[in-house]
Amino acid sequence: MKIIITGSLGNISRPLATTLISKGQKVTVISSNPEKSAEITQLGAEAAIGSVSDENFLIDTFKGADLVYLMVPPDFSVNDFRAYIKSIGQHYANAVKAAGVNKVVLLSSIGAHLAHGTGPIAGLHDVEQIFSGLENLDVLTLRPGFFYNNFYANIDLIKHMGIIGSNYEADQSIVLVDPKDIAAAAAEKIAEGFNGRSILYIASDKRKLKEVASAIGTAIGKADLPWVAFDDTQAYDGMVGAGLPSEIAKNYVEMGNAISSGILWEDFEAKNITPKGKIKLEDFAAQFALAYNS
Ligand SMILES: NC(=O)c1ccc[n+]([C@@H]2O[C@H](COP(=O)([O-])OP(=O)(O)OC[C@H]3O[C@@H](n4cnc5c(N)ncnc54)[C@H](OP(=O)(O)O)[C@@H]3O)[C@@H](O)[C@H]2O)c1
Repeated sequence: MKIIITGSLGNISRPLATTLISKGQKVTVISSNPEKSAEITQLGAEAAIGSVSDENFLIDTFKGADLVYLMVPPDFSVNDFRAYIKSIGQHYANAVKAAGVNKVVLLSSIGAHLAHGTGPIAGLHDVEQIFSGLENLDVLTLRPGFFYNNFYANIDLIKHMGIIGSNYEADQSIVLVDPKDIAAAAAEKIAEGFNGRSILYIASDKRKLKEVASAIGTAIGKADLPWVAFDDTQAYDGMVGAGLPSEIAKNYVEMGNAISSGILWEDFEAKNITPKGKIKLEDFAAQFALAYNS
């Protein structure tokens, strides 16, 4: 099969490309950075250099593909995060139709069943809606949980304040996922083949935030590291103070409210899904310690 992968050599796309290549698939990886060409080629893939906001580039790249993996790369420079995410989804949909692609793996998120109140995930809801309106297309929609690697953003907070936290409580449960487990699940479905429309929730672990603090704390030699729940203003100020633009911080505060209330997980919970990913919280904590100490 000829497979196009968006997301360059990112968290999911690199292991996905590597696995697909090892199974004999012909893979093209899209990157916006010409300097990534050599590394992509070394993996055994073809490099397509251009932007996912350039529809003509997408059409040219998608032509002749049996399947495309579509993800919306974060862009923190935009004025309206939700509108940006939707616009990339629309470019993808237009390019898929124009290039005559029949199979899509669409990276969405847990919580994308909701139209509002979830920050950036509402943008992924919009993208899901765009694809649900397309005919004669097989779409596997991935709805992963909260990426473990989001916790890397807490390294400075731990180092300077001796705490980890956000605008949700220590007793709140969170559905966690490792991007490598997402790549493995996507590669498995691609190998099996899929038809029609389906949604795949992907999770590696489900734990309380206080357990996250404890696992990370133990791994870095601070076993009593507390999870501290901030109010929305503190969380917003902290993110802006750490360099995030206001629009992005507002979106993450809203997503934090959806984590706090539990609405983000309600559809996942209703379907009684057990986390199947191999990489558990303690495995991630060991990786976190390497980054923390480096
Ligand atoms: N974080 C979470 O908890 C969470 C939860 C659910 C879903 N998600 C979804 O997962 C996505 C992130 O996936 P990921 O972690 O695998 O990605 P990632 O590691 O952030 O990689 C994305 C890559 O896309 C490339 N890129 C950026 N802008 C581009 C452009 N305009 N055109 C072409 N390529 C561009 C960049 O590589 P180059 O510099 O090489 O171009 C970047 O490294 C999020 O955007 C969100 O949609 C996230």
